[in-house]
Amino acid sequence: MGVQSIIGPIIHCDDSGDLVIHENVQIDIRDGKIENVHLNPDTNNVHKSNVKRLENGQFLIPGLIDGHIHAVQLPNLGLGYDKPLLDWLSTYTFPLEKKYEDAKFADRVFDAVVKRTLKMGTTTACYYASLHGKASLILAEKAAIHGQRALVGKVNMNNCPAEDYCESSQDASIQDTEKFIEEVDNINNPLVRPIITPRFALSCSLELMKNLAELARTKNLHVQTHISENKEEIQAVKDIFPEFSSYAEVYDAAGLLTKKTVLAHGIYLSDNELNIIHDRKSAVIHCPSSNTCLKSGLCDVRRLQAANVKVGLGTDVSGGNLPSILDVMRAALQVSTHLSLEKPGYDPLNYKDVFYLGTLGGAEALDMNDKVGNFKPGKEFDALVIDLAAPNSVLDNLQEYTLDEKLQRLIYSGDDRNVVEVYVSGHRVM
Ligand code: GUN
Ligand code: ZN
Repeated sequence: MGVQSIIGPIIHCDDSGDLVIHENVQIDIRDGKIENVHLNPDTNNVHKSNVKRLENGQFLIPGLIDGHIHAVQLPNLGLGYDKPLLDWLSTYTFPLEKKYEDAKFADRVFDAVVKRTLKMGTTTACYYASLHGKASLILAEKAAIHGQRALVGKVNMNNCPAEDYCESSQDASIQDTEKFIEEVDNINNPLVRPIITPRFALSCSLELMKNLAELARTKNLHVQTHISENKEEIQAVKDIFPEFSSYAEVYDAAGLLTKKTVLAHGIYLSDNELNIIHDRKSAVIHCPSSNTCLKSGLCDVRRLQAANVKVGLGTDVSGGNLPSILDVMRAALQVSTHLSLEKPGYDPLNYKDVFYLGTLGGAEALDMNDKVGNFKPGKEFDALVIDLAAPNSVLDNLQEYTLDEKLQRLIYSGDDRNVVEVYVSGHRVM
């Protein structure tokens, strides 16, 4: 494919994470990658057939990155927030996930998940599927078909409260995972990769976690799990792993903490745990809508950042109530506001901070910032065209706004109606 170009205003973060706004830019795209970014391009270019000019009022932002989403839990969206984490899992979540024995059900749900998250602007998703290899493969196929960049995890659990949603042995768990990895490789789509997914320390034996870590190491794969989400959960981890003094030490002893590891939640991590996570270059995925829906707690992102731990954002559907990173940005702002009201002198997150977390921050957390996260030449063109005055939008252009003001309005008051085009690796996918 030759060069395609797109001209219009852009808002993104530079490599230091600072907000950068340009009123008029031409981005040249070749083979899915950004070849050049010209500031104030020649207006004669506009008439060339391979050049697209954004309509008046529209602007480009990088594709949004959902660092933690349970694709299988979409049917439970908005349900069951009357119970805390462990009861919520047993009552609502495991019974739903068991249904993915049925490949037809998996097909229906996953088709909807990928289309819906793309519509919300999620160009990269880090997915949990279920225990089932077949269903997990269907999710990977759906991401490939619809053109989403995705890490897809077949979930591992060999210690389970319910016998009917559990793997039969650690050997079976490893064998099924190896098969799944091979099958995803056979899809042969560079945008879709498997991710090693021990559900959390409570559902996996140390032996299983060690063998999964070894698999991640030998195959150079990402790892995802949950950490320190809920006080009752943390106590239960202490009870079953008394030989370790913290939750992070369990994962570290298993070898699961690498620079390609993302840990969802991390609300109650101690300073010592933050040091371990920082030393291993692992990341925390902040899931504020889930943390408030399930009343797990308020995660202090400023504290994670002060420990130089990488942070991205996650919807954690259906712990989180919407599959939208824009909505998670808002939830992160609200959680941070609550923390600032409790702590004198606390500097709450602002719209620029959450924009970074949902774009470049997510890319850094997933160790994908060489490929995505901003509009730097050499990266792939994952982008959203935003129109605040799109049909049926809550927003409008009833007065003049600067691009900075438009970004604020998008984050505080926008939704998927304002996401009018979605590009992944240079291809329009929505
Ligand atoms: N911890 C273990 N499994 C889950 C899950 O499905 N959702 C959330 N929020 N936390 C978990
Ligand atoms: Zn989760």
